[in-house]
Amino acid sequence: MVTEPIFKDWTDQTSDLFGNVPLNLRHRLHEHPLFSDDGLAGLIETCPRDNYNLVQWGTQGPRSDWREGEIIDLSGGDVLDAIRQGRMWINIRNLPQFSTPHARLLDDIFSELEARLPALQSFNRTMGLLISSPKSRTLYHADLPGQSLWQLRGVKRVYLYPKAAPFLKEEELEKIALTGVEVSLGYESWFDGHAQAFDIKPGDMMTWPHNMPHRVDNHDVLNVSMTLEWFTPDIRRTHMVTMANAILRHKLGFAPKSRDIHGASFWAKAVLQKAFRKTSWIRRESRARKPATFRPDPHQPDGIIELAGTRA
Ligand SMILES: [Fe+2]
Repeated sequence: MVTEPIFKDWTDQTSDLFGNVPLNLRHRLHEHPLFSDDGLAGLIETCPRDNYNLVQWGTQGPRSDWREGEIIDLSGGDVLDAIRQGRMWINIRNLPQFSTPHARLLDDIFSELEARLPALQSFNRTMGLLISSPKSRTLYHADLPGQSLWQLRGVKRVYLYPKAAPFLKEEELEKIALTGVEVSLGYESWFDGHAQAFDIKPGDMMTWPHNMPHRVDNHDVLNVSMTLEWFTPDIRRTHMVTMANAILRHKLGFAPKSRDIHGASFWAKAVLQKAFRKTSWIRRESRARKPATFRPDPHQPDGIIELAGTRA
């Protein structure tokens, strides 16, 4: 039960700016018992297999270097120790689905947000937790829902890029909508000269305009971060237009001219994307996991043990 306000430094200006510019705010969830050592360990131990991905990144290179692991006979505390000394991250998805205290916390956060932002009408809210090794990276991407990133442990650098070409091309956003794969934006190192960078520490929370491209580099320390995602009526309409424009461009051969979320053009697109969503042409990336080839173990140098018979 949260009795004090979750945000420590929210002002009237924050309400005016929320969703329009990158914001770095102060919160108190890093002091919440759900995110203590015991809280995190317990969460890992009760997380159903379908709600997490454990990934080892071999080098700081492409996604093709990633491989999947599985927690086998290990306490949550030992999993944290293994991630602390390895090159891994665990992404725990949809906490409220299997943890009532986290579901309550998500409701508390949005009750406070909606009291501070009377125009915010959120739905399909969800909460995830990312626990990542020192120096882990999240590659350049853009997300389709509304987003916020809550730092609980460690320090990471968040780079935010302009929401316009060439940083975010409409065709790329359409591709994300079609495939569900968020890491399909072209990235060039010179983009960094146009980025805003923030080093966030426990007690910091960031949110940014919808669809804004970003990437994240951990400092050399274990990181624990909570992510919240949500939709609003406008975000849903934007998503419908993106999907319809994708169909127009990639299926019907027209270059879409508008991203309006109101008026006749919106309603025509709403009908179009609904019709196509039912066809097999829109392929979603399979959520099927690759077979696990390692398990975490804090007593090994890289924090892992190879699973027998799984590696060539
Ligand atoms: Fe993201």
